[in-house]
Amino acid sequence: MRAPILAANWKMNHGPTEARAFVAAFLASYTARTDRTVVLFPPALSLSTVRDALGSRADITLGVQNIHSEAKGAFTGENSAAMAADAGARIALVGHSERRHVFGEPDDATAAKCALALRHGLTPMLCVGEKLEQREGGETDAVVLRQLRAGLAKLAPADAPNVLIAYEPVWAIGTGKTATPVDAAAVHQVIRRELAARLGAKQAAAVPILYGGSVTRDNARALLDAENVDGLLVGGASLDPSSWSAIAST
Ligand code: PGA
Repeated sequence: MRAPILAANWKMNHGPTEARAFVAAFLASYTARTDRTVVLFPPALSLSTVRDALGSRADITLGVQNIHSEAKGAFTGENSAAMAADAGARIALVGHSERRHVFGEPDDATAAKCALALRHGLTPMLCVGEKLEQREGGETDAVVLRQLRAGLAKLAPADAPNVLIAYEPVWAIGTGKTATPVDAAAVHQVIRRELAARLGAKQAAAVPILYGGSVTRDNARALLDAENVDGLLVGGASLDPSSWSAIAST
């Protein structure tokens, strides 16, 4: 049994002042549990505020929404893996569909980011997922496998098991359309098989695969119950402390 991971991706919401208020309200309603991992991905500017507001709540893990593909240097406006770790992040989202499709991030950048994250003590959470036309064209598995293979391409064999994967179909993100538990389980199985081919069945079984895309407090349980769904990556429904508390307690 993999303990579920419930992760909140705030995207470009909740600057330091709102983030502090969110944490206070969330901690008031969410009691620490040892049977799950709760992760918050605030915007980079709010990371250290959230870390300080969490105080001694070591049950909640912090992550960064993006890192740059180079370790340091003249990249105005960017955040490095080392800086994110210094600000309190332990996980780095890599290849979120908004990075891929809004900012044009290519597969080789996701590979560099996964490797850099690990080098700086961050666990990469590699996001993969197909667009609507790719799903309708029967290309879902091929797209997901291409993104998965590319994202893991620069990892040393010993590092490959130390990743998290999030399957987020692009057509389900922020649209109110959720993959059914059956659809999610089918793609998660494709991902698990690919991991098993690379890592062996035992190590592959230990890699958490999260689902994301229009998760709410109403559909969270059914998605988490689906085979090979080891957690949820939640955008819109994670912005309100009581909604997030309900999902984190699912
Ligand atoms: P959503 O976003 O829950 O608002 O669909 C999920 C995500 O993009 O991680």
